[in-house]
Amino acid sequence: MTPDDQKKAAAIRALDFVESGMKLGLGTGSTAEHFVHALAERVAGGLKIVGVPTSERTARLATKLGIPLSNLDDTPHLDLTVDGADELDGALRLIKGGGGALLREKIVATSSDRMLVIADASKLVRTLGAFPLPVEVIPFGAVSTAGRIAEVASAFGCHGKIARRVDSYGEPFFTDSANFIFDCSFGRIPDPDGLAAALNLIPGVVETGLFIGIAAAALVGTPSGVDMIEVN
Ligand code: A5P
Repeated sequence: MTPDDQKKAAAIRALDFVESGMKLGLGTGSTAEHFVHALAERVAGGLKIVGVPTSERTARLATKLGIPLSNLDDTPHLDLTVDGADELDGALRLIKGGGGALLREKIVATSSDRMLVIADASKLVRTLGAFPLPVEVIPFGAVSTAGRIAEVASAFGCHGKIARRVDSYGEPFFTDSANFIFDCSFGRIPDPDGLAAALNLIPGVVETGLFIGIAAAALVGTPSGVDMIEVN
């Protein structure tokens, strides 16, 4: 089973948690897109749900596939969000934002009764941080904000390059909310809870890709099947 097969298997298993009438947060990324495709097949077969996308990219795909969509202003409370992750640990702490959608993903997930993570086995780690941590910042004063991020991270034992994300043309990457992302290559994050709380106090930081205490369960595709991880 390739990693993509594992992502697909986890995404299809997530359909078991979807019930008719649900309001669903729709994640962003290649794993979430497998879920959107599988969900669209059920919708075509008569399943009644409404989706709230976490990015313009997911909104375009869901619209193309015929999934009825809403937004958080019209549908502020969701039953379930299904989304991927760049890393997750055994306590279901996550790094997200590889696709640049971390802010909307966090708003949608925390507007939901439950967040269900879908991932391939490579995403499950003992210690978060091998994947560079995305931090979304407003463009005003971004260089200064990056300096503050480095100082705060250092106090939490995190050191490494902090690079502003660029697009495929080498131009600054802008999120759907017109912000920058700094990717922080810390290698390991010894205290994700403390780091997340401290980074969020920096003026200019909009959100971090650390999702702490948000995911309720994860479906992890492995070469031998899909494992479920739940937190108590
Ligand atoms: C998008 O901003 C991210 O949070 C994605 O959920 C994450 O990057 C996982 O992406 P893949 O499913 O493509 O690995």
